[in-house]
Amino acid sequence: MKEMSRRNQYFTDSVIRRMTRIAIANNAINLAQGFPDFDPPKEMTDRLAEVAATGPHQYPITMGAPNFRRALAKKAGRFMGRTLDPETDMVVTIGSTEAMVDTLFALTNPGDKIIMFSPYFENYHAQTIMADCEPIFVPLVPPVFNFDPQVLEDAFKQPNVKAILICNPSNPSGKVFTREELSFIADLCIKYDVYAIMDEVYEHIVYDDNKHIYMNSIPGMWERTVSCSSLSKTYSVTGWRLGYAIAPQPIMERIKQYHDFNAVGCASPLMEAAVVGLEFPDSYYKEFGDHYAHMKKLFTDGLKDIGIPFTDPQGAYFVLANIGPYLKKGQSDVDFCVKMTEKVGVAAVPGSSFFREDINDIVRLHFAKKDETLYEALNRLADIKKKMC
Ligand SMILES: Cc1ncc(COP(=O)(O)O)c(C=O)c1O
Repeated sequence: MKEMSRRNQYFTDSVIRRMTRIAIANNAINLAQGFPDFDPPKEMTDRLAEVAATGPHQYPITMGAPNFRRALAKKAGRFMGRTLDPETDMVVTIGSTEAMVDTLFALTNPGDKIIMFSPYFENYHAQTIMADCEPIFVPLVPPVFNFDPQVLEDAFKQPNVKAILICNPSNPSGKVFTREELSFIADLCIKYDVYAIMDEVYEHIVYDDNKHIYMNSIPGMWERTVSCSSLSKTYSVTGWRLGYAIAPQPIMERIKQYHDFNAVGCASPLMEAAVVGLEFPDSYYKEFGDHYAHMKKLFTDGLKDIGIPFTDPQGAYFVLANIGPYLKKGQSDVDFCVKMTEKVGVAAVPGSSFFREDINDIVRLHFAKKDETLYEALNRLADIKKKMC
């Protein structure tokens, strides 16, 4: 038999999603893969029930149902502070995951380099390899996750750099990039003629005085930025698989071609039901943010009581917890997470899935869960020393 694709040698399955399967097998609380166990907004599920009877149930317009795109243009335009054209500036995709893949294919040629920060969301590495590109990793240094401006500029200076891929707010670090940091990166993008691919799925989950700034709102950046985001996190519908890319027409024309042949379109009934969510007033996003601030406080207060050190996120819904004191000699973080799922009954993601650097004593836990789930998880984690050491 002929050799199969060599690309697969450079990535495994997703460790995050593997941890979900291990959590289910062990009846553990899944704080590994980030998805809520509370319901989406009732208006959206009620509308979905109506749509089940009335349709649509057939292929949608490839680029996204027109009423969905009109509602998205209004909602995203309001937050980005710009008028968006639903016909030319956007495409609806199967989660932001497909938006990122379509974008990478639309912008790059084989051999191009993509700058990304480490720690990074694990999809990025695999997606970059799938597009036959090479990642360049620039460290975000814990515990504050700042980058060294010189190291970043050196990355831009490498040959064949086509894009920088930024997760803002960041998974897993919880970093929210400041206007100054984004302006610095924007200047580099313009100076070295590099595109910015933004993963903004956590755009509405920011804490305290932190503010999410859209890269495409920084002067000179609209022309060279693709904003990928989705409804998964903002409306607690990770299973609906609805996402989108927003970009200026010349880039969007290319992205649409990849969507056309990769996906044909997204689920018609779900797009129809999601329109009511996109039309929510600003108060929805305020209450949504307040709910996340509540879950963060509940969970991080609990971790403090137990004595597990963690990073306090500025945005998104993850903490990076230090499991150094509980690791057995020579034990890998992957093995630790599997054992913790089995013995403690709480699933986490090993930090090595996110860091390019040699890090073995960090795990990622998420807190997008009902209060009672978080209390039960904390209850179980209180035994971590007894059960893991
Ligand atoms: C940073 C980041 N980007 C993208 C995704 C995937 O989003 P979607 O459900 O829109 O495909 C996730 C999901 O966890 C994520 O954390």
